[in-house]
Amino acid sequence: MKIAILTGAGVSAESGLGTFRDKDGLWTRYDLNEVATPEGFARNPALVHDFYNARRANCADATPNAAHMALAELATGPHEVTLITQNVDDLHTRAGSPDVIHMHGRLMRALCAACDARWDAPLVMSPNDHCPSCGATATRPDIVWFGEVPYDMDAISAAVATCDLFVAIGTSAEVYPAAGLVELAGRQTLEINLAPSARANAFDDHRFGPASEVVPAWVAELR
Ligand code: APR
Repeated sequence: MKIAILTGAGVSAESGLGTFRDKDGLWTRYDLNEVATPEGFARNPALVHDFYNARRANCADATPNAAHMALAELATGPHEVTLITQNVDDLHTRAGSPDVIHMHGRLMRALCAACDARWDAPLVMSPNDHCPSCGATATRPDIVWFGEVPYDMDAISAAVATCDLFVAIGTSAEVYPAAGLVELAGRQTLEINLAPSARANAFDDHRFGPASEVVPAWVAELR
């Protein structure tokens, strides 16, 4: 069976990484316009680097939870699995998932706004860093900010349109184009979340509960 999976911040919540829109979520404590838009970065690059430096340190200290591990195990079985994540943490990769598609970029990667070079980000980035390729002081986190185009949308759309089962895990379905992928899914759709998302009605099936419990149980049924 071809399975396309889309994960959101809820899959990393039990690893101690905050979500965005839950109580005490990141967007309840930071103005996303200041720290997650190109305009915000142009206005105050030091503030944006500080924001992502703190998230990068949290990510380095976090460990994959049972949901990440179960999704990695699923990829080793008989099913053809495409794992798409909105998350910028590296917990799916560290859990052993191969070929993770990071549609919103990766916290552990850096990007040069001048020459488009990408490299492994240092733990702490600053506006004074020089691009290792062109030398410009134009380095930024390799994160897709609001108003920018998510990565790999052609591959993502193809995988979702041709899968037998589309599963969304741990996402509020508030942000497009990720939230619209369920409309592309050709066959069965399943939402796994702590609570019904904004697009819950678009899914055929639902399983509610903490990802670290519900995802391993779901994967076990597919063995
Ligand atoms: N298990 C399962 N689901 C959980 C858990 C958990 N332990 N904890 C929280 N959730 C669910 C919440 O119910 C919520 O629906 O995870 C979802 C998290 O929603 P958001 O905080 O909005 O995160 P996400 O959907 O990933 O946000 C999408 O928005 O800000 C942008 O780029 C950012 O990628 C992010 C995008």
